[in-house]
Amino acid sequence: MEASTVLSRIGLAGLAVMGQNLALNVAEKGFPISVYNRSTSKVDETIERAKQEGNLPLTGHHSPRDFVLSLQRPRSVIILVKAGSPVDQTISNLSQFMESGDCIIDGGNEWYENTERRMREVADRGILYLGMGVSGGEEGARYGPSLMPGGSYDAYLNIKDIVEKVAAQVEDGPCVTYIGEGGSGNFVKMVHNGIEYGDMQLISEAYDVLKVVGGLSNSELADIFAEWNRGELESFLIEITADIFRVKDEHGDGELVDKILDKTGMKGTGKWTVQQAAELSVAAPTIAASLDCRYLSGLKEEREAAAKVLEDAGMRGDVLKVSGGIDKKRLIDDVRQALYASKICSYAQGMNLLRAKSIEKGWNLNLGELARIWKGGCIIRAVFLDRIKKAYQRNPQLASLVVDPDFAKEMVQRQEAWRRVVGLAIQAGISTPGMCASLAYFDTYRRARLPANLVQAQRDLFGAHTYERIDRPGSFHTEWTKLARQK
Ligand code: 6PG
Repeated sequence: MEASTVLSRIGLAGLAVMGQNLALNVAEKGFPISVYNRSTSKVDETIERAKQEGNLPLTGHHSPRDFVLSLQRPRSVIILVKAGSPVDQTISNLSQFMESGDCIIDGGNEWYENTERRMREVADRGILYLGMGVSGGEEGARYGPSLMPGGSYDAYLNIKDIVEKVAAQVEDGPCVTYIGEGGSGNFVKMVHNGIEYGDMQLISEAYDVLKVVGGLSNSELADIFAEWNRGELESFLIEITADIFRVKDEHGDGELVDKILDKTGMKGTGKWTVQQAAELSVAAPTIAASLDCRYLSGLKEEREAAAKVLEDAGMRGDVLKVSGGIDKKRLIDDVRQALYASKICSYAQGMNLLRAKSIEKGWNLNLGELARIWKGGCIIRAVFLDRIKKAYQRNPQLASLVVDPDFAKEMVQRQEAWRRVVGLAIQAGISTPGMCASLAYFDTYRRARLPANLVQAQRDLFGAHTYERIDRPGSFHTEWTKLARQK
């Protein structure tokens, strides 16, 4: 099909939304690309789009063999199909025509261990492998995503010039870097998504407090988010949130946002992030709270029934009255500060998870560089990531973003507003699990002494688990009950 005598520089298999757009992006940057999809209509659709969008150098293939043989050697093939077994099927379908030195690049949201398994499987035949996180949705794929390739460094060098052109561009370079060995690219993308969950949860809490406690209309919310997007919170997610509040419902009165069922979907990367945090003993309470909230949002019928039972038990349907009235202007400014401070804690958790995994796997992740490649193209892109990059450049060993001198100052400056917002929300019965988790994380981390001494005493009492002392070395056990009860 459309066999071309000139070999393509790269191939892409899997032409759903992301695949099609990424292929067109590659072609637009001047790299001839071959595309393939199991259902042939997608191939024809992509060829048509390439024509429409400026006669881009893209050739389509209906057979896996023709597709693979249409590529320059060493061949690089990006696959963008659903994570899991479709990736295995696509690999076995294509790799039979590939040779030693060729490379497969999986661009899906794949579990990193699957990538490591596939790497070993194809290595027998000398085929190289990259697991490449791709962020930015449809727009990003077409006009500049953030790319997180990990795995074979040699394979990366084969596509470096392509991915550097295709990725989003920011003032300090393209939003792509070689992440590290093994499944590190997928892992970094997974944590990106965990952070994305946290950001979205925190924004939804800011919305809830402003709407319910502050009584803001959708149009006021749109203005506030647009204004926030001109300051320290400037980011893709704040920007799109402002837009969302402006969209009218075409089927009735008011804005569409109020007609959307309050049940959040998910595909798994947030859950993996929280599982990995637990696995590595890294506290990630803000990200975990955002995942829990998605689960609770899914219990729509149960929540409706609970609202009824508790109303019958005397709980007021509306929120409890906030004493002393509300100063709207101040509330808005407080919420902005609470959101920013909560975000710092959430990113601190994500970055610490990355570091813990990097140590476990020997990936040697460069946290400052990861923050840099998230500055453009991806869903969590934000001005604030430049500050994170600089914090890690200043001190690559930084224990936590919370103790970077600049961030520390900002958190201290914002803590009063932060506490006011959380306090108000609690008083009003509006749940703000993300903001509360971030604040509790901050308050736990910053305290030199915690009540963990009591937990240790309890453990020693009922299980002789022993404890350490603050004033002398060694491990100790005490007969607590006997001593407490002796006359
Ligand atoms: C991105 C997004 C993308 C996708 C998420 C959504 O970086 O472009 O993260 O990968 O939108 O997978 O995840 P949920 O469906 O779990 O919310």
